[in-house]
Amino acid sequence: MKPSSEDTWPLVTVVCDNYTTREDLEACWGFSCLIRHGGKVILFDTGSDGMVLSKNMARLGLDPAAIDLLMISHQHWDHTGGIYSILDINRNLRVLVPRSFSPHFKADMKRYGVSVMEIDKTQEISPGFYTTGELDGPVREQAALVQTPAGVVVITGCAHPGIVRIAQTAKAIFSEEDLALVMGGFHLLDDGEEDILEIIGQFRSLGVRYAAASHCSGERARRLFAHEYGDHFIRLGAGAEISPSDLKS
Ligand SMILES: [Fe+2]
Ligand SMILES: [Fe+2]
Repeated sequence: MKPSSEDTWPLVTVVCDNYTTREDLEACWGFSCLIRHGGKVILFDTGSDGMVLSKNMARLGLDPAAIDLLMISHQHWDHTGGIYSILDINRNLRVLVPRSFSPHFKADMKRYGVSVMEIDKTQEISPGFYTTGELDGPVREQAALVQTPAGVVVITGCAHPGIVRIAQTAKAIFSEEDLALVMGGFHLLDDGEEDILEIIGQFRSLGVRYAAASHCSGERARRLFAHEYGDHFIRLGAGAEISPSDLKS
């Protein structure tokens, strides 16, 4: 699966999501996407079900053995559930987890012989690929930040620390760059219309150009983001692919 040129592969391919964009892929509660950037293949989260993850990856032509980095946003079952289906095939990768992950979880990873990197602060992991660092909240969580020719792409698992806070963190790190896209789980299932419109307003003030609310964002948030962002709302689901060329102003 190693691309000879990054132009030939999308930047992000959604592997698992509550939604699907293709009939031959399964939807399941959770999130996982594959990022190809700077010559690295990065899997961000693993969904809730290893069987679905493996099946969807195979149908998308993605090889678990090609993964260089496995970044887990937070320790919830719908993001860690498929991890062993990857480690059973590929132990030659680095796993990036927030430092607050349970000692039991970290010990299990080490038992598999993989290198575990415990994330605390904002950090560049590979050229142009960053973690926000572990942000506090009801559940501690890291998000991925990817520098692209179109601007910075922010990828969230569940956004338990708050989706606006994650976007603000990205903007603080990359003050000179545009936020091209914020995508993933926004965790707005229980938020009302007014609160969601306020969040969309804050996205606008931060200059977030495209939004892709999926996974645990909730139908209300997806509807409102789609309405407010129009053709700058990207409908995610398993099989969705995003390239920097899709994120032009
Ligand atoms: Fe989640
Ligand atoms: Fe979660």
